[in-house]
Amino acid sequence: MDSDEERVKTYIDGLDSLLFGGVPTGNQVLIAGGPGTGKTLMSFEILYNCAKNGIPSAFIALEEQPKNVIKNAKKTFSKFPDIDDLISKNKLIVDGEDPALRVTTPSDSQMYSFGNMLSDIEAITKENDARVIAIDSVSIIKLMIGDPFAYRKSMIALVSSLRRKGITSFITADVSSSDRDKIRFSQEFFIFDGIVALYANGQEDRRVPTLEVLKMRGSNHSWMLSPYEITEAGFRIFTGE
Ligand SMILES: Nc1ncnc2c1ncn2[C@@H]1O[C@H](COP(=O)(O)OP(=O)(O)O)[C@@H](O)[C@H]1O
Ligand SMILES: [Mg+2]
Repeated sequence: MDSDEERVKTYIDGLDSLLFGGVPTGNQVLIAGGPGTGKTLMSFEILYNCAKNGIPSAFIALEEQPKNVIKNAKKTFSKFPDIDDLISKNKLIVDGEDPALRVTTPSDSQMYSFGNMLSDIEAITKENDARVIAIDSVSIIKLMIGDPFAYRKSMIALVSSLRRKGITSFITADVSSSDRDKIRFSQEFFIFDGIVALYANGQEDRRVPTLEVLKMRGSNHSWMLSPYEITEAGFRIFTGE
C-alpha cells in the first residue's frame, strides 16, 4: 500500500481511481488534448483541490492572463466557494506573465527568454514552497522557440528542473486533434512521467468528451477510456464503478 506521501491525489474521484490512488509524488504529468477539452480547468481543479487539502500549489499561466484563469475557473466551478480565500492565503498561487510579451520576443533572444521563464517559474514556486504546480501550457514554448532542437532541449531542461526539486507537476499541451484516432503525440512528450489524454470524439451529431491515462511511471493505472463532464462542482469522470 502507498502511504499518503508517495502519491499526490488529484481529489477528482474518477481520476484518482483511474490512477490507482493518485500521481506518484515527483512525477511530471502531461495533460494533453485538443482545444476546449478542459485542460486548463482540469489542471486548475487539481491545484485548487491540493491547496484545499493543505498542499501549497502554484498555477503558472503562460497562455492566458492569471486574472482571466481565475475568472473563468470561478465562473465554471461556481460550487468552489473558497478560490479567492486560498489565493489570498497564498495556499494557491495563480501567476504568470503576459503571453503577448513572450511571442513578440525577437528570435535571437529566444533561449534567453526561455531562461527567464524558468527563473520566473522557480521564483513563483518559492513564494509558497509549492509542492504541486501546473504550467498552462507548454504549447506556448513551442511558439516561442521556433527551432525544434532548441525547443526539445528546453522541454528537457524544464522537466529536469522540476524533477530535481521533487515538485509534482501537471503540464498542459495542445495536440493537433481532439479525435483519439487522429492524435499524433509529439516526440518530446515521451520525457514526461505520465500522460493524461483528453479527447472529444465526434459521435453522430455531437462530440463526446472522454479521457484516458496513457502512461504513469511508478504506478499501475487503468487502461479504460472514460467519459467525463465539466460541472459547477468540478470534473466528473465516469469510470463505470
Ligand atoms: N460552466 C461550464 N459547464 C460546462 N462546461 C464548461 C463550463 N465552462 C466551460 N466549460 C467547458 O470547458 C471548456 C474550456 O475549458 P478549458 O480548460 O479552457 O479548455 P482547454 O484548456 O483544453 O482549451 C469549454 O470549451 C467548455 O466546453
Ligand atoms: Mg487552455
